[in-house]
Amino acid sequence: MVVLITPVCAADIGSVIALARQVWQRTYPGIISQEQIDYMLAQRYTRERLLAELDTSGIWWDKATVDGCLAGFSACMTMPAGGEMKLDKLYVDPDRQRGGIGARLIEQVECHAHAAGCRALILAVNKRNERAIAAYRKHGFAVRDSVCVDIGRGFVMDDFIMLRSLPAPAAPL
Ligand SMILES: CC(C)(COP(=O)(O)OP(=O)(O)OC[C@H]1O[C@@H](n2cnc3c(N)ncnc32)[C@H](O)[C@@H]1OP(=O)(O)O)[C@@H](O)C(=O)NCCC(=O)NCCS
Repeated sequence: MVVLITPVCAADIGSVIALARQVWQRTYPGIISQEQIDYMLAQRYTRERLLAELDTSGIWWDKATVDGCLAGFSACMTMPAGGEMKLDKLYVDPDRQRGGIGARLIEQVECHAHAAGCRALILAVNKRNERAIAAYRKHGFAVRDSVCVDIGRGFVMDDFIMLRSLPAPAAPL
């Protein structure tokens, strides 16, 4: 299986939004309500919002393709303080999970973090999303904090904050 990691472009937006819904519907029922799934997808995955983010410096969207088909995507952003890169989104086609695609996308996020001079990757993951937590632990993240954030309409994000330190850049010879 040849996995290619490349930047998301405007032409990918429709497929990214469709894959997001597909993965969310396989992941979050039983963790959050269907109403919260619909609310969060509608907030985060509009064509306008993705177009704006693709055009924003400090935000990177990448996609994984297998035989030309979208198999996953990630988004990350530099945080205003602290030298941290936030892994904001990481989603892999349910039929292709556990094949190392998540690892490849995280590697790409790590490259962006190095280039941006960040010293750590951070992310927020629902406390009941055990598979994702297992994946993040496998890829070197550890729980740093626990938060419960009000996102409106009576919904909350009940998350662990996970962190992975990055090696310091090699000193010049
Ligand atoms: C979390 C996710 C991005 C990882 O991507 P991936 O391509 O499956 O990850 P990798 O193949 O690099 O790593 C696989 C590890 O993830 C965990 N994992 C992924 N899918 C799993 C599943 N269905 N059941 C149990 N563990 C799973 C395991 O720790 C696994 O390691 P193992 O196979 O050695 O046990 C992917 O599973 C996914 O999209 N999940 C649903 C969406 C989601 O929860 N995203 C995170 C939001 S914060």
